[in-house]
Amino acid sequence: MPIARLMLMDFRSYATAAIAPGPGYVVLTGDNGAGKTNILEAVSLLTPGRGLRGAALSEMARSSGPGGFGIAATLEGDAELGTGTLAAAPERRQLRVNGATASVNSLSEWLSILWLTPAMDRLFSGSAGDRRRFLDRLVLALDPTHASHAARYEAAMRARNKLLAEPETADPAWLAALEAGMAEHGLALTGARSRTVAALGEALGEAIASPSQTDFPRASLALNGWAGGDLVHLLRANRGRDAAAGRATEGPHRQDLAVEHLAKRQPAARASTGEQKALLLGIVLAHAELVAERRGAAPILLLDEVAAHLDPARRAALFARLEGRGQVWMTGTETTLFESLAGAARFTIANGMIHVV
Ligand SMILES: Nc1ncnc2c1ncn2[C@@H]1O[C@H](COP(=O)(O)OP(=O)(O)OP(=O)(O)O)[C@@H](O)[C@H]1O
Ligand SMILES: [Mg+2]
Repeated sequence: MPIARLMLMDFRSYATAAIAPGPGYVVLTGDNGAGKTNILEAVSLLTPGRGLRGAALSEMARSSGPGGFGIAATLEGDAELGTGTLAAAPERRQLRVNGATASVNSLSEWLSILWLTPAMDRLFSGSAGDRRRFLDRLVLALDPTHASHAARYEAAMRARNKLLAEPETADPAWLAALEAGMAEHGLALTGARSRTVAALGEALGEAIASPSQTDFPRASLALNGWAGGDLVHLLRANRGRDAAAGRATEGPHRQDLAVEHLAKRQPAARASTGEQKALLLGIVLAHAELVAERRGAAPILLLDEVAAHLDPARRAALFARLEGRGQVWMTGTETTLFESLAGAARFTIANGMIHVV
């Protein structure tokens, strides 16, 4: 479901700002530091989590503002989502849906949002945690319950770490209950990840079968790091080791997404910078098509600085493939990059103001 109207209050560089994008391409141009990525970040907060920068909420409130920020979105069909923080609780994100308080994790029932940012250029060579978070976004867009399973798993794990650190006072029944909770939600997490990786593998195969889509090399995907198994049993057996390490040494929170450049039979991390970018785009495009098919509505895509880094042929291929595929927000410093896009809603940003072109 596309966003019909977005309003920002004391968010990052904006005191107040409003934008009414169309249902298709939304092009934001402006100089470096104008506030383009800040708008994409605001949109990315309409899904559970900390948004496309993964930043602390307190950093998002405008530094010369009163503290706290607000983001309000009207979806096509008139649902109203409002999220933000209060000055008194700068790290607690609140959500209102049609005026009523709701849990932040319920956002995934309203919108599927996925992004590509320049920081993700290092996804394949970076940390397993970043790849796992990327994978979990892919999963969440298909399965809205994923965020709450992840939250419950993490909460049980943190509580278990704490208990293991204080063995004298720990209640064994409580410890066992936490481990049972980790196993239950861990099973849901790994099951959903496996299903997404399998479905995406198929979607990537179909996408590449079409000759117009060969501009994005095909990736093959696999899960690494935790093969599954009886987690309750394992956690019980690992108590001593986990207490010494101060964390759970094995489990679904150690899973990693392994990506290979299929034609080259090479790990994605060894591909060139441009190839890695094209691989990642191929994954995101196939995923967007999968979400559209499964959920009956295209996801919202936030493509930060993507156009500028593609050669003209790949850029044309990207635009052709995204045409008519829902709301796609794109940023760049040059308007010429987007000249060929028919029917795009275009905005320039300068001095903290958003202007319709
Ligand atoms: N909490 C905050 N309060 C006020 N200003 C902030 C805050 N956080 C970031 N900014 C400002 O927002 C600006 C950056 O905005 P943004 O990253 O959206 O720029 P951009 O248009 O995407 O630029 P580029 O083309 O370089 O990517 C910076 O000038 C930064 O100082
Ligand atoms: Mg930017």
